[in-house]
Amino acid sequence: MQIIRDADALRREIDALKADGGSIAFVPTMGALHDGHLALVAEARLRADHVVASIFVNPTQFGANEDLSVYPRREAADAALLDAAGVAILWAPDVETMYPDGPAATIRAGAAAQGLDGDSRPGHFDGVATIVARLFDQVRPDVALFGEKDYQQLAVIRELVRGRSIPVEIVGVPTQRDADGLALSSRNAYLSEEERTAARTLPRALGEAAAAIEAGGDVAEALEKARARLEGAGFDPIDYVALHDAETLAPMNVLDRPARLLAAARMGRTRLIDNLPVNPA
Ligand code: PAF
Repeated sequence: MQIIRDADALRREIDALKADGGSIAFVPTMGALHDGHLALVAEARLRADHVVASIFVNPTQFGANEDLSVYPRREAADAALLDAAGVAILWAPDVETMYPDGPAATIRAGAAAQGLDGDSRPGHFDGVATIVARLFDQVRPDVALFGEKDYQQLAVIRELVRGRSIPVEIVGVPTQRDADGLALSSRNAYLSEEERTAARTLPRALGEAAAAIEAGGDVAEALEKARARLEGAGFDPIDYVALHDAETLAPMNVLDRPARLLAAARMGRTRLIDNLPVNPA
């Protein structure tokens, strides 16, 4: 695996991969890799001749009071994992390379960025859209893979690609979970042992609510019950527990089409998100 930090070198190497007709699958990350990222790489390998991954902790998607300065950084260990997983190129630019004019979001994310994390994390999806568009310009992938754990991000990126006619196929990969159900996330590393145990309530409460709604139960009631369970487990604050259209992310009160149940809540100093599919019978 080549580790590339310079944009000209990346252009040459991508040209070389494309010259022999090879297709490129791209896995963008912020590092601190876990099995969720490796599932993206495994899926990428099935979908193209070459896999390019990136590690870039993108400053423009962090709010002023968020965890940019303490976000886990361990590039050497990450590079070893990506190399072993069959990645051909690791694109690892610095902030000046990605933002030569200074770190600012220059793309406004579309309608999918309204509500949910769009409300709790103002500007976050503009930062995501800006960096993903730049990474797509540089890597020119045929297909790009994103985890369903960041479900709203996936919807924002699909909308970005549609709106700008970017010639890339976007693939969502199901959330990877620990044995106790907690969705894998680089931020789980912040949880104390006690918080980690309490955090299991998040997937459980969502699972119960999803089952109740699919069984025909009242949506508002199921959401309220899930919220109460999270409160009982010590989540505070709970940013949202909500049912949305699986495609457009429009809010839903009745299960009359495929939906997604999404939640975000803070456990100690760690903000956790999770989501599950909810389908009508
Ligand atoms: O999901 C992430 O890790 C990031 O939001 C992404 C897509 C790499 C953009 O910085």
